[in-house]
Amino acid sequence: MPIESDLIITIDGPAGTGKSTVARLLAARLGLDFLDTGAMYRAAAAIVIDRGIDPSDIEAVVETVADADLHFDWETDPPEMLAWLRPMNGRIRAADVTKLVSPLAALGELREHMVRKQRLIAKQHPRLVSEGRDQGSIVFPDADVKFYLDADPDVRAKRRAEQLAEGGQCMPELDVLCDEIRERDERDMSRPVGPLVCPDDAIRVDTGPLTLTGVVDLLEAECRARINA
Ligand code: DC
Repeated sequence: MPIESDLIITIDGPAGTGKSTVARLLAARLGLDFLDTGAMYRAAAAIVIDRGIDPSDIEAVVETVADADLHFDWETDPPEMLAWLRPMNGRIRAADVTKLVSPLAALGELREHMVRKQRLIAKQHPRLVSEGRDQGSIVFPDADVKFYLDADPDVRAKRRAEQLAEGGQCMPELDVLCDEIRERDERDMSRPVGPLVCPDDAIRVDTGPLTLTGVVDLLEAECRARINA
Protein backbone atom coordinates (compact mmCIF):
# COMPACT_ATOMS: atom_id res chain seq x y z
CA MET A 1 0.00 0.00 0.00
CA PRO A 2 1.23 3.55 -0.62
CA ILE A 3 2.59 4.53 2.78
CA GLU A 4 2.54 8.31 2.54
CA SER A 5 -0.79 9.30 1.07
CA ASP A 6 -4.14 9.72 2.81
CA LEU A 7 -6.41 6.74 2.33
CA ILE A 8 -10.01 6.38 3.44
CA ILE A 9 -11.86 3.07 3.11
CA THR A 10 -15.50 2.96 4.18
CA ILE A 11 -17.51 -0.10 5.19
CA ASP A 12 -21.26 0.34 5.64
CA GLY A 13 -24.09 -2.11 6.06
CA PRO A 14 -26.74 -3.37 8.44
CA ALA A 15 -26.15 -4.97 11.86
CA GLY A 16 -24.90 -8.53 11.95
CA THR A 17 -22.84 -8.48 8.77
CA GLY A 18 -19.57 -8.60 10.73
CA LYS A 19 -18.61 -5.06 9.71
CA SER A 20 -16.67 -4.18 12.87
CA THR A 21 -14.55 -7.32 12.90
CA VAL A 22 -13.97 -7.15 9.14
CA ALA A 23 -13.05 -3.45 9.33
CA ARG A 24 -10.62 -4.06 12.20
CA LEU A 25 -8.91 -6.98 10.45
CA LEU A 26 -8.77 -5.15 7.13
CA ALA A 27 -7.22 -2.10 8.81
CA ALA A 28 -4.59 -4.31 10.46
CA ARG A 29 -3.73 -6.02 7.15
CA LEU A 30 -3.38 -2.71 5.31
CA GLY A 31 -1.63 -0.87 8.15
CA LEU A 32 -4.47 1.66 8.58
CA ASP A 33 -6.36 2.92 11.63
CA PHE A 34 -9.85 1.62 12.40
CA LEU A 35 -12.84 3.79 13.26
CA ASP A 36 -15.96 2.14 14.75
CA THR A 37 -18.61 4.86 14.39
CA GLY A 38 -21.29 2.59 15.91
CA ALA A 39 -19.29 2.83 19.17
CA MET A 40 -19.80 6.61 19.10
CA TYR A 41 -23.60 6.31 18.78
CA ARG A 42 -23.55 3.58 21.43
CA ALA A 43 -21.55 5.86 23.74
CA ALA A 44 -24.17 8.60 23.23
CA ALA A 45 -26.94 6.15 24.19
CA ALA A 46 -25.04 4.99 27.30
CA ILE A 47 -24.50 8.61 28.38
CA VAL A 48 -28.18 9.44 27.91
CA ILE A 49 -29.26 6.45 30.01
CA ASP A 50 -26.64 6.81 32.72
CA ARG A 51 -27.17 10.56 33.15
CA GLY A 52 -30.97 10.14 33.23
CA ILE A 53 -31.48 12.41 30.20
CA ASP A 54 -34.83 12.33 28.43
CA PRO A 55 -33.98 10.95 24.94
CA SER A 56 -36.66 13.20 23.41
CA ASP A 57 -34.94 16.32 24.81
CA ILE A 58 -32.71 16.75 21.76
CA GLU A 59 -30.94 19.84 23.07
CA ALA A 60 -29.95 18.13 26.34
CA VAL A 61 -28.85 14.99 24.47
CA VAL A 62 -26.57 16.87 22.06
CA GLU A 63 -25.24 19.23 24.74
CA THR A 64 -24.30 16.39 27.11
CA VAL A 65 -22.79 14.23 24.37
CA ALA A 66 -20.75 17.22 23.15
CA ASP A 67 -19.61 17.88 26.71
CA ALA A 68 -18.43 14.23 27.01
CA ASP A 69 -15.89 15.01 24.25
CA LEU A 70 -16.11 11.48 22.83
CA HIS A 71 -12.86 10.26 21.44
CA PHE A 72 -10.84 7.07 21.10
CA ASP A 73 -7.74 5.85 22.86
CA TRP A 74 -5.64 4.94 19.81
CA GLU A 75 -3.10 3.15 22.00
CA THR A 76 -5.48 0.21 22.56
CA ASP A 77 -6.58 -2.40 20.02
CA PRO A 78 -9.38 -1.97 19.17
CA PRO A 79 -9.38 1.72 20.12
CA GLU A 80 -11.32 2.20 23.36
CA MET A 81 -14.20 4.70 23.45
CA LEU A 82 -13.65 7.46 26.02
CA ALA A 83 -16.19 9.87 27.48
CA TRP A 84 -15.00 12.65 29.81
CA LEU A 85 -11.57 10.98 29.32
CA ARG A 86 -12.80 7.78 31.00
CA PRO A 87 -13.00 4.42 29.16
CA MET A 88 -16.55 3.21 28.64
CA ASN A 89 -15.45 -0.45 28.59
CA GLY A 90 -18.27 -2.92 27.95
CA ARG A 91 -21.02 -0.42 28.87
CA ILE A 92 -21.65 0.49 25.22
CA ARG A 93 -22.51 -3.16 24.36
CA ALA A 94 -25.13 -3.60 27.13
CA ALA A 95 -28.68 -4.58 26.17
CA ASP A 96 -30.29 -1.27 27.30
CA VAL A 97 -27.79 0.67 25.16
CA THR A 98 -28.44 -1.56 22.13
CA LYS A 99 -32.16 -0.90 22.56
CA LEU A 100 -31.90 2.90 22.72
CA VAL A 101 -29.13 3.47 20.18
CA SER A 102 -31.14 3.00 16.99
CA PRO A 103 -33.87 5.59 17.80
CA LEU A 104 -31.23 7.95 19.20
CA ALA A 105 -29.14 7.62 16.02
CA ALA A 106 -32.14 8.95 14.08
CA LEU A 107 -31.79 12.41 15.70
CA GLY A 108 -30.54 14.78 13.01
CA GLU A 109 -28.76 17.14 15.45
CA LEU A 110 -26.88 14.26 17.06
CA ARG A 111 -25.87 12.90 13.64
CA GLU A 112 -24.54 16.35 12.62
CA HIS A 113 -22.37 16.36 15.74
CA MET A 114 -21.10 12.82 15.05
CA VAL A 115 -20.38 13.53 11.36
CA ARG A 116 -18.30 16.57 12.38
CA LYS A 117 -16.39 14.49 14.94
CA GLN A 118 -15.78 11.65 12.48
CA ARG A 119 -14.36 14.05 9.87
CA LEU A 120 -12.14 15.56 12.54
CA ILE A 121 -10.90 12.09 13.51
CA ALA A 122 -10.08 11.46 9.83
CA LYS A 123 -8.01 14.66 9.77
CA GLN A 124 -5.97 13.31 12.66
CA HIS A 125 -5.95 9.73 11.30
CA PRO A 126 -6.00 10.21 7.53
CA ARG A 127 -5.25 6.54 6.77
CA LEU A 128 -8.43 4.96 7.99
CA VAL A 129 -10.93 2.14 7.61
CA SER A 130 -14.20 3.67 8.83
CA GLU A 131 -17.20 1.51 9.56
CA GLY A 132 -20.87 2.42 10.12
CA ARG A 133 -24.07 3.15 8.22
CA ASP A 134 -23.35 6.49 6.49
CA GLN A 135 -19.59 6.50 6.07
CA GLY A 136 -19.49 6.16 2.28
CA SER A 137 -22.72 8.09 1.63
CA ILE A 138 -22.46 11.13 3.96
CA VAL A 139 -19.30 11.31 6.04
CA PHE A 140 -16.66 10.44 3.44
CA PRO A 141 -18.33 10.68 0.00
CA ASP A 142 -14.87 10.94 -1.62
CA ALA A 143 -13.49 7.81 0.08
CA ASP A 144 -10.91 5.89 -1.96
CA VAL A 145 -12.73 2.56 -1.68
CA LYS A 146 -16.29 1.95 -0.43
CA PHE A 147 -17.85 -1.35 0.62
CA TYR A 148 -21.39 -2.28 1.57
CA LEU A 149 -21.65 -5.55 3.49
CA ASP A 150 -24.98 -7.32 3.48
CA ALA A 151 -26.49 -10.68 4.43
CA ASP A 152 -29.94 -12.19 4.65
CA PRO A 153 -31.67 -11.36 7.99
CA ASP A 154 -31.88 -15.12 8.78
CA VAL A 155 -28.12 -15.47 8.43
CA ARG A 156 -27.56 -12.39 10.60
CA ALA A 157 -29.97 -13.68 13.27
CA LYS A 158 -28.04 -16.97 13.43
CA ARG A 159 -24.74 -15.10 13.81
CA ARG A 160 -26.22 -12.91 16.55
CA ALA A 161 -27.49 -16.02 18.39
CA GLU A 162 -23.99 -17.54 18.25
CA GLN A 163 -22.48 -14.31 19.63
CA LEU A 164 -25.00 -14.22 22.51
CA ALA A 165 -24.36 -17.90 23.29
CA GLU A 166 -20.58 -17.32 23.29
CA GLY A 167 -21.02 -14.36 25.65
CA GLY A 168 -23.12 -16.57 27.97
CA GLN A 169 -26.15 -14.29 27.51
CA CYS A 170 -29.68 -15.69 27.43
CA MET A 171 -30.70 -16.42 23.87
CA PRO A 172 -34.07 -15.42 22.42
CA GLU A 173 -35.77 -17.60 19.76
CA LEU A 174 -34.23 -17.26 16.30
CA ASP A 175 -37.41 -15.82 14.78
CA VAL A 176 -37.55 -13.17 17.55
CA LEU A 177 -33.94 -12.18 16.75
CA CYS A 178 -34.77 -12.13 13.04
CA ASP A 179 -37.79 -9.85 13.63
CA GLU A 180 -35.63 -7.50 15.73
CA ILE A 181 -33.05 -7.35 12.93
CA ARG A 182 -35.69 -6.59 10.29
CA GLU A 183 -37.17 -3.88 12.54
CA ARG A 184 -33.74 -2.29 13.10
CA ASP A 185 -32.95 -2.41 9.35
CA GLU A 186 -36.27 -0.74 8.60
CA ARG A 187 -35.61 2.02 11.15
CA ASP A 188 -32.00 2.60 10.02
CA MET A 189 -32.98 2.63 6.32
CA SER A 190 -36.04 4.86 6.62
CA ARG A 191 -34.77 7.66 8.87
CA PRO A 192 -34.67 11.01 7.06
CA VAL A 193 -31.11 11.92 8.16
CA GLY A 194 -28.12 9.68 7.37
CA PRO A 195 -30.16 6.60 6.45
CA LEU A 196 -28.46 3.28 5.80
CA VAL A 197 -27.97 3.13 2.02
CA CYS A 198 -25.60 1.39 -0.33
CA PRO A 199 -23.70 4.23 -2.08
CA ASP A 200 -23.79 3.95 -5.91
CA ASP A 201 -20.02 3.63 -6.06
CA ALA A 202 -19.72 1.01 -3.28
CA ILE A 203 -18.75 -2.62 -3.78
CA ARG A 204 -21.63 -4.68 -2.40
CA VAL A 205 -20.62 -7.94 -0.74
CA ASP A 206 -23.05 -10.64 0.36
CA THR A 207 -21.26 -12.06 3.41
CA GLY A 208 -23.83 -14.90 3.80
CA PRO A 209 -21.89 -17.61 1.96
CA LEU A 210 -18.44 -16.39 3.09
CA THR A 211 -16.33 -17.02 6.18
CA LEU A 212 -14.96 -14.04 8.10
CA THR A 213 -11.51 -14.61 6.62
CA GLY A 214 -13.11 -14.98 3.20
CA VAL A 215 -14.71 -11.53 3.52
CA VAL A 216 -11.47 -9.89 4.69
CA ASP A 217 -9.50 -11.60 1.87
CA LEU A 218 -11.98 -10.31 -0.69
CA LEU A 219 -11.95 -6.73 0.65
CA GLU A 220 -8.17 -6.69 0.93
CA ALA A 221 -7.78 -7.88 -2.68
CA GLU A 222 -10.25 -5.22 -3.91
CA CYS A 223 -8.44 -2.46 -2.00
CA ARG A 224 -5.01 -3.47 -3.27
CA ALA A 225 -6.26 -3.79 -6.86
CA ARG A 226 -8.03 -0.41 -6.83
CA ILE A 227 -5.31 1.49 -5.07
CA ASN A 228 -2.52 0.01 -7.20
CA ALA A 229 -4.55 0.78 -10.31
O1 DC B 1 -22.82 -1.02 14.31
P1 DC B 1 -23.48 -0.91 15.69
O2 DC B 1 -24.50 -1.98 15.96
O3 DC B 1 -22.48 -0.78 16.79
O4 DC B 1 -24.27 0.48 15.62
C1 DC B 1 -25.05 0.90 16.70
C2 DC B 1 -26.21 1.75 16.21
O5 DC B 1 -25.74 3.00 15.73
C3 DC B 1 -27.09 1.15 15.12
O6 DC B 1 -28.44 1.26 15.50
C4 DC B 1 -26.86 2.01 13.92
C5 DC B 1 -26.28 3.28 14.47
N1 DC B 1 -25.24 3.84 13.62
C6 DC B 1 -25.58 4.85 12.77
O7 DC B 1 -26.74 5.23 12.71
N2 DC B 1 -24.62 5.44 12.01
C7 DC B 1 -23.36 5.01 12.07
N3 DC B 1 -22.42 5.61 11.31
C8 DC B 1 -22.99 3.95 12.92
C9 DC B 1 -23.97 3.37 13.69
